[in-house]
Amino acid sequence: MPGSVTARTLGGLELLATDGGETVDGDDARAEPRIVEVAINKWLADGGQHLFPARGGTSTITLRALSVRPQCALYVGTVGGGSGVSTLVAKVRGHGPSWRGDLQSRGRPRLRRGSATASELTTLEYGGLRNIYTTFGMSHPEFGVVRPLGHLVEESTILMDYVEASTLREVFMAESRLRLSSRSALRTEATRDVWRRAGAWLRMFHQSTSEQSAPASQSNRQDVIDLFHAYHDFLSTRLGTRAVGDIARRGAVLAASVLPEQLPLVVGHGDYAPRNMFVSSRGRLSVFDPMPRWKIPCYEDVCRFLVALRLLGLQVHTHGAAYSQHELERRESDVIAAYFAPDAAPLDQLRCYQLLILLDKWSAVIDSSNQGWRPRLQTASMRLASGYLRRQAQRLIELSHS
Ligand SMILES: Nc1ncnc2c1ncn2[C@@H]1O[C@H](COP(=O)(O)OP(=O)(O)O)[C@@H](O)[C@H]1O
Ligand SMILES: [Mg+2]
Repeated sequence: MPGSVTARTLGGLELLATDGGETVDGDDARAEPRIVEVAINKWLADGGQHLFPARGGTSTITLRALSVRPQCALYVGTVGGGSGVSTLVAKVRGHGPSWRGDLQSRGRPRLRRGSATASELTTLEYGGLRNIYTTFGMSHPEFGVVRPLGHLVEESTILMDYVEASTLREVFMAESRLRLSSRSALRTEATRDVWRRAGAWLRMFHQSTSEQSAPASQSNRQDVIDLFHAYHDFLSTRLGTRAVGDIARRGAVLAASVLPEQLPLVVGHGDYAPRNMFVSSRGRLSVFDPMPRWKIPCYEDVCRFLVALRLLGLQVHTHGAAYSQHELERRESDVIAAYFAPDAAPLDQLRCYQLLILLDKWSAVIDSSNQGWRPRLQTASMRLASGYLRRQAQRLIELSHS
């Protein structure tokens, strides 16, 4: 029921707003902001300053916290002075305060295995940002970029331009809450095209990475079938076979019938979701937070986006506003059509992959809820999220048989 969920119970839903896929290895704690500040000032003095058009003013920086997250912290600082101030963001990776407790593997199935150090992940993200920068440039009419400025290797830190814009997640939420007002109607018109852009952006990004090397993950149909069975085993052990039903097994049957034996691989974005995209006031889309660590089936990035959109639908719903099915579907089909154009989209394959990602999210929610024998979901938000994920999975199964 919209409005029946209190703000307190929404906390567990935040779990669904992360990819939960990258595991960090080792004891490399995050560098202290003061150490990063010193490193940035050295970087500025060694030539970094030339990246900014500002003249005069200060050439040293003082960092302020922007956001502290489980696996990284973001800081902002300004360079220059007077009318020529530039703001940069430092993204410092390492173990955040809640990292150890949240992400240590407890043996649940995952879309991918293997851990990497904070330093390796930072190098990959910086490479991804640079690739986006060279692929899309600064003057594309539809796409912006978050300009990468520097990589402080010792501090596992990326420097980039600060972007003053809403994320697509924020735009989507705001459209819902205000959708009956005239201001919202204007906003909707300006951002209508952004969903198509999200599909077109991903297509260009995948094309730009198709020659790159990276280890492959789920390169063939059998890998996907095995994963469906692993999710079935995990969920039915935790929740009981009646609660889980045959959703995951039907996913395996679907995979066997609709996926090609070898899946089309690309180096993925890794967390392609509305929270990782800025939308300018004119609807220009800038994607950030890449993690091009694996070659993955191209469906995965597309489907992560679609699943993230559905999960946002839940969050919007629990805030007391809503989207109609029709509105959600319109956005989904804009994304899909733009990604696959001019070809027809392989809808059954996409449903199959969305189902796989939903089962991964469902397993993550269950895994985080309790560790005891036959645990019960502890909080209202966990139950809400779990029930919603199950209904979304059911919906995909039904669609694939229609
Ligand atoms: N260049 C930037 N300019 C302004 N805000 C940013 C920038 N990069 C990140 N942010 C803000 O910080 C949040 C987290 O950044 P992100 O790189 O997505 O971290 P994570 O890897 O933890 O998901 C973003 O959702 C955005 O609000
Ligand atoms: Mg992010």
